[in-house]
Amino acid sequence: MKEPKVFSLTTPVGRREFLKQTGVALSAVTLAGMLGEILASCASITGPNVTHGTTTINVASLTSDGQFLVDSNVNPDGTPILVIRQNASTYTALSMLCTHQGCQVNPPSGGIIYCACHGTRFDLHGNVLSGPAPSPLTNYGVTLNAAAKTITVTY
Ligand code: FES
Repeated sequence: MKEPKVFSLTTPVGRREFLKQTGVALSAVTLAGMLGEILASCASITGPNVTHGTTTINVASLTSDGQFLVDSNVNPDGTPILVIRQNASTYTALSMLCTHQGCQVNPPSGGIIYCACHGTRFDLHGNVLSGPAPSPLTNYGVTLNAAAKTITVTY
C-alpha cells in the first residue's frame, strides 16, 4: 500500500519538494484555465453569434427606390443589417453575411451587392446573380410603419 506524501515546511528538502509539487499543480490549473478560454474563443470563431429578436429602423432617409442604408446597431449574425428601399411600401432587410464562406458583403453599388472575397454578386433582393455563393443572402422579415417611416426587422 502506498503511503500518502507528507510535506514538512520545517526542513529545506521538505520545502523544496513542497514548492516543486505545488508549482506543478498550479501550472496544471493555469494551463487548464487557458485551454478553457482558448476553446471558448474558438466557439465564437467557428459559428456566427446568431440571436433572435426585432429591431426598429428609421427609413425616412430612403427617399427613392434602390436607396439603402446599413444599420450596424444590431448584428444578428455578426454583420450589419442592409436595408434597401424597393419602393415606397416595400423594404428589404438583408444579412450582409455572404453565404459562400462568411465574408461581409459590400453595400450595393450599381444595383449589385458584391462580395469581394470570391466575387459573388447578389441582386438587391439578395439573390445570387453569379459567383460561388450557393444561396441568397438571409432575408429578414420586415414590417413597415408608413406613418412613422420605420420598419421593424425580425431576425
Ligand atoms: S465569401 Fe463571399 S464569395 Fe466567397
